[in-house]
Amino acid sequence: MKSEQENLAKRETWQSKWGFILACIGSAVGMGNAWLFPYRLATYGGAFLLMYLIFTFFIGVTGVIGEMNLGRAARSGPIGAFGAACAARRANCAWVGKALGIIPLLGVLALAIGYSIIVGWILKYTITSLSGSLLTINSVTGFQMAFGQMAAPFGNNLYLLLGLLLTFFIMSQGIGAGIEKANKLMIPLFYVMFIGLALYVAQREGAQAGYQWMFTIDWAELRRPMLHVYALGQAFFTLSLAGSGTVIYGSYLSDDTDTLDAAWKIALFSTLAAILAALVIIPAMATTGAKLSTSGPGLLFISMPYLFAGMPAGRLIMIIFFLAVLFAGLTSLVNLFEAPMALLQDHFGLSRKTSVLIIGALGTLVALCIQGVVAAWMDFISIYLVPLGAALAGIMFAWVWGRQKVQQEVSKGRPSAIGSWYYPLYKYVFCIITMLVFACGIIFQGIG
Ligand code: PHE
Repeated sequence: MKSEQENLAKRETWQSKWGFILACIGSAVGMGNAWLFPYRLATYGGAFLLMYLIFTFFIGVTGVIGEMNLGRAARSGPIGAFGAACAARRANCAWVGKALGIIPLLGVLALAIGYSIIVGWILKYTITSLSGSLLTINSVTGFQMAFGQMAAPFGNNLYLLLGLLLTFFIMSQGIGAGIEKANKLMIPLFYVMFIGLALYVAQREGAQAGYQWMFTIDWAELRRPMLHVYALGQAFFTLSLAGSGTVIYGSYLSDDTDTLDAAWKIALFSTLAAILAALVIIPAMATTGAKLSTSGPGLLFISMPYLFAGMPAGRLIMIIFFLAVLFAGLTSLVNLFEAPMALLQDHFGLSRKTSVLIIGALGTLVALCIQGVVAAWMDFISIYLVPLGAALAGIMFAWVWGRQKVQQEVSKGRPSAIGSWYYPLYKYVFCIITMLVFACGIIFQGIG
């Protein structure tokens, strides 16, 4: 077996700075933006948007910078990076970090598996709206039944397999020629398609009420603790702060990239995607006079297709909508599977193709088997593992590796060294709030 040093020496890097930023936007923009965000916004109105913006830009960005730099400093995913942080503190303690790094790694692998099931549903809706068979359903109960069948145990094997095949094909091509290229294609298309859809929905009678709901802040809502819990969880989930995905993408980043600049661009585009998705979904629901908050998670698979089916050019609208959401899902999925794959390459010296095969086989097998329990599976991971992973990454970098290292790494690629504001913000505000997200998740049973 080759030494870890040799494996690390031949690691790939991103082909361009924008390629890296787009890949991170691809990771960020996913079901969190297209599904969860419109749903929460519909429940709480503009007050949710306000808190989400505050949490994203003041706290989330700090964490994204931290995770990127932790990965870049160690040139490794969470296991290697946590190990390096602990070794820097005490030479013989690397094993503690490595052991703790297993938590976020398994967390994203489990998230990837659950996520792939949802991507499989989206793929089914994309293909059946293309073929026209989805349009033969013409009632809400019809869509409910179709969704129920699909979400049952072994209910969507074919499309799940197809989705996973596509994901692993992209990944097998490598960082530059696979992940970066796929993101460069899919992410711009996502925005173009959603802008088109938002403009289309704006023409519909009754859409106005939707905008009013989205952008009016009812200050009394801010007194509801759950609003803050959800807004915080949403900001973290959607920025892919889980101690793994952003760490591994950062590990392929060269030292001449300014991560502060990259992080706020990622936060900006992720927020834009969430608002665009809401600008399509909420006004579209408003045209029927329906109250969105009662439509629950069935929103994407029951309410929306039913609504689109009744609009002029409904089939085309449905195809565009699901294709765009599919792009968002796939680009998050490749990120979620990357850290476990990279582990096999970096630590065990396996080739990329072999690593894809191993993770692919494992992921596919588990995904096939858990189709009927995906909701509970995703809840468990997003409530416990995602915030725990994010907190561990923050603690490892800020508390264990410490001030000097953070200051030095975050300053790389910048015209001038990072200001002295960053470290305390990261060490205290970000880390403590992240632990709070974790605690709130346990107390309130559901944050994402
Ligand atoms: N950010 C993704 C979304 O909004 C989810 C994700 C979480 C992806 C953690 C990678 C890591 O859907």
